[in-house]
Amino acid sequence: MSTVLNVKNLTQRFSGLVALENVNMCVEEGEIVGIIGPNGAGKTTLFNCITGVYHPSEGTVEMLGKDITGWKPYKITELGFARTFQNIKLFPKMTVLDNVIVGMHTRTKTNILTAIFNTKSKREEEKRCEEKAIELLKLFGMEHLKYEMSTALPYGPQRDLEIARALASDPKLLLLDEPAAGMNESETEALRQTVYRLKQMGYTILLIEHDMKFVMNICERIYVLDNGRLIGSGTPEEVKANPAVIEAYLGKD
Ligand SMILES: Nc1ncnc2c1ncn2[C@@H]1O[C@H](COP(=O)(O)OP(=O)(O)O)[C@@H](O)[C@H]1O
Ligand SMILES: [Mg+2]
Repeated sequence: MSTVLNVKNLTQRFSGLVALENVNMCVEEGEIVGIIGPNGAGKTTLFNCITGVYHPSEGTVEMLGKDITGWKPYKITELGFARTFQNIKLFPKMTVLDNVIVGMHTRTKTNILTAIFNTKSKREEEKRCEEKAIELLKLFGMEHLKYEMSTALPYGPQRDLEIARALASDPKLLLLDEPAAGMNESETEALRQTVYRLKQMGYTILLIEHDMKFVMNICERIYVLDNGRLIGSGTPEEVKANPAVIEAYLGKD
């Protein structure tokens, strides 16, 4: 088993505010790992440091042993990390299908010349992309919605679509920022089953989530952030029994 993500001594400062302080964490291939913590704990900032949105003040981020600290986000996507956002970011003027196809563009082979001449190989590639996108939509039971505009979908399916688009790049690590946020109970349960299926398919997943039941049910290991610091980690059982974790939650909620 290889280490897909390795975060070492990561610190992120924003003029005076320390959003992350000396964070160490890792994700092994095939794992589902959770990040929990109160609002403002630094969870999204951690994702932003991992995916190149922020250049960390200190520390390193390694993908499969390669130091990617400070790389541009598109480079990091190309190499194998894909994410969803806390606030849904779909392309509103595109269909459901096209939203997924866009997620593939970093991995397609079409170069500028074939794009200009619209060659047979390009058409074949487009067909392959479309077939693959439809397969991904099927995972979420959304194939019949492929020609709908993305914004016409209800909230739950929009979140699913974001995940489908992230998967389109064949990521080595899928990062989900509060995927169940705003979902109702049945949508959350459907998402839990989908995430579980993704694990069975061999995906490696790092997820931030507020819904404790969701996290405890699906994650094999959990990291707990509070005020930018890791205050605990381990299996769901270990984390639930950790006094520092209990205090952080009881003290704030
Ligand atoms: N770009 C930024 N500039 C300044 N402060 C930020 C920025 N991004 C996040 N923060 C601050 O960092 C802290 C952690 O935020 P965030 O990572 O969004 O928390 P979480 O996702 O755990 O709720 C918060 O105090 C937030 O206001
Ligand atoms: Mg957040």
